[in-house]
Amino acid sequence: MYLRSCRHQLAVLEQNAARTVQSIEEQLRSRDLVPATTARCRAMIQAVREQAAGISAILRPLLGEGDANANDSDVPSPLLYIHYLYRDWAWPSDPDGENERALRTAQSVMDGKPVGRLLVLGAGACRLAYDLHCADPTAETTVVDIDPLLFAAAHTVIRGGSVTIREANAEVDELGHVDKEWTLRAPQGALDDDRFHFRIADGLDAPFAAHTFDTVLTPWFIDLVPTDLRDFIGEVFRLLKPGGRWINLGPLRYRPEIPVIHRFSREEVFELARRAGFRIDRWIVESVPYLVSKLNGRGKVESVLAFSANPVSGTTDTELPPAWLLFRHLPIPVFPGLSMFVSDDPAEQMVASAIDGRHTLDDIAAIIASKAGDTGLTMTQFRKIVRRCLMDIHPGCL
Ligand SMILES: C[S@@+](CC[C@H](N)C(=O)[O-])C[C@H]1O[C@@H](n2cnc3c(N)ncnc32)[C@H](O)[C@@H]1O
Repeated sequence: MYLRSCRHQLAVLEQNAARTVQSIEEQLRSRDLVPATTARCRAMIQAVREQAAGISAILRPLLGEGDANANDSDVPSPLLYIHYLYRDWAWPSDPDGENERALRTAQSVMDGKPVGRLLVLGAGACRLAYDLHCADPTAETTVVDIDPLLFAAAHTVIRGGSVTIREANAEVDELGHVDKEWTLRAPQGALDDDRFHFRIADGLDAPFAAHTFDTVLTPWFIDLVPTDLRDFIGEVFRLLKPGGRWINLGPLRYRPEIPVIHRFSREEVFELARRAGFRIDRWIVESVPYLVSKLNGRGKVESVLAFSANPVSGTTDTELPPAWLLFRHLPIPVFPGLSMFVSDDPAEQMVASAIDGRHTLDDIAAIIASKAGDTGLTMTQFRKIVRRCLMDIHPGCL
């Protein structure tokens, strides 16, 4: 399924590249073009072809030639995040560069404590994970992402190899800014698979046992990837060892389809984290350059929130709404009259039957999903159903 989605995205990229080339070639037939326009368009054709060929050269050997049909795909298009490869491993380093600043910011909220077993969710091209790892001899790092291009290139680079890849621009302001071939290399040398592990997996439902990591890092992730940040906070809590910490770095700039009630500001994120059992230790907000290309000087400036949060044990939460309704990792308490509870609504009945004082929102969502069979609903949607039922039936929510 995953490989099919990746092949599909690669096939779409190749088709789009061919279409773009064809369209520019057709426009070039016009006889009213000055020579510089012809030169720019020819350079653009070459850049599009070579960029697509470079991406195919990285991905084809990994993906093979099998089925490429996929109606919907969670796998990002290879072009969506390709700039992370240039920034992380190609653009010349600079004491005040983006990678250097990201490392300094992360370290400033980490307060000198060792990272230990480090999990980086949505690690992208992995430079921050690599830099944190290299800076700390205690680190044993696992990086998780779903982007095959970023991970294939990052894997080669971090294991000591090099990758050549073309940066190509669709909007050309100078003829010298059409494209550039970069060589990606790890600046501090290779890391082997004893202490630096790659894992293609869904970071929202990470395939690791509870309480495995000393540090969970979420760089540029919490606003963009989770559909419901409350569910994700519970997942981070689950993954951390007691005494561990969650390090976050990135903006709060949610996808347009996220409902307004779930586009949490810093204060709301902190309140949710506290209600989930975290104590916010350190935080800063800073305005930083973001993906400013060393080829053409274009990019943007973003406001980035960095914080460190520790899971604290033994918190008793008595506020409304109850924490066990907000988060997926807390047991839902029984209530008087539960054993006699009857409802016409089958979902309410199933939820009530599953409450035993130990099951969490996640456990009950999984029970309902397994009973529901093949509905096509995601776990986020099942959690939403459970929350709705709990709000209707549980006196603790009133
Ligand atoms: C905005 S990028 C940030 C990349 C990297 N953290 C950085 O700061 O350079 C978001 C990353 O999340 C990854 N991603 C998206 N959905 C994911 C998922 N469900 N699980 C893991 N990673 C995911 C994307 O592939 C992408 O690499």
